[in-house]
Amino acid sequence: MKNNESIKIRDNQVINGDCIEALRSVDSDTVDLTFFDPPFNQGKDYLHFDDEQPTEEYWKWIDEVLDLINKKSSQGAAIYFMQREKNTEEVLHALRKTGWTFQNLIIWRKMTSAVPSEIRYGKQYQIIVYATKGDKPRIFNKLRANVPLPKNYKTERRNGVLLTDVWDDIRELTSGYFAGDEAIRDKNGNRMHTQQAPLALLLRVILSSSLPGDTVLDPTAGTGVTAMVASQLKRKSISIEIDPNYFELIKNRLSSLRKADDIVKLRAYYSPTEKLDEIWPYARPLDNFLFDKQQVIT
Ligand SMILES: C[S@@+](CC[C@H](N)C(=O)[O-])C[C@H]1O[C@@H](n2cnc3c(N)ncnc32)[C@H](O)[C@@H]1O
Repeated sequence: MKNNESIKIRDNQVINGDCIEALRSVDSDTVDLTFFDPPFNQGKDYLHFDDEQPTEEYWKWIDEVLDLINKKSSQGAAIYFMQREKNTEEVLHALRKTGWTFQNLIIWRKMTSAVPSEIRYGKQYQIIVYATKGDKPRIFNKLRANVPLPKNYKTERRNGVLLTDVWDDIRELTSGYFAGDEAIRDKNGNRMHTQQAPLALLLRVILSSSLPGDTVLDPTAGTGVTAMVASQLKRKSISIEIDPNYFELIKNRLSSLRKADDIVKLRAYYSPTEKLDEIWPYARPLDNFLFDKQQVIT
């Protein structure tokens, strides 16, 4: 497939096309951080992706994408690869094969949903593997957060808590009621993209593994959450999305930020982080945007 369109919205490049083709035209040494949230090959209904491929073909595709990202990344660049826990073994193998060094297996524990089973425990988390190009990350900002005290906990915390590899404080956007305001909907109230990741997740990834001015890549961008958060944090971004409808959605989302997408509300949570102003410039980049423009795509 040919790339249909590539546009720039301030420091954000948005490309409508196949990620492998689009990545080939990205200069080497450009990408400082990648968030990779591909379809999971679990039979979901994507218009432009066969989500029920033979396992081998699917992982061949993943290998090719990971390898290209590695080639386009700067030394020490980070990747966060999200997948279902069932595929942990394949994810670790694919990353190692394509030149990435394992750093953490992050457990993103869901707050309001689980996949039930008759024969095993219900599944309540997704994995996010954090890896780097080379042994040492070029940037790793240790975040501290005002995580709520456990019940009956007596000692007050003066300096928040250092984050660990278990993330149980970020609520997923479920398909139903709990999806809340952040979920992008069409004019009939239906979700535009059922795999939309929460901005709090990308905020954590981008704050931890990049600095203002860095370039953040999302090769399977969906609703453009990565670019939308990167832009507010004064990072540059490259988003690639194969589906033209989602491409329109990303353009729309970046051109006129909604109140629900404003990350400033989460700043107090990270206030105990050392030198927070350096990794999260306080100037409100949103002032230039129009808030609350309808996100309806016809
Ligand atoms: C799991 S979703 C990503 C959701 C995204 N993280 C978000 O928060 O909105 C995967 C996306 O990859 C896109 N996609 C599938 N194959 C692709 C390809 N070859 N190149 C680029 N994008 C692709 C799908 O259309 C889908 O929107």
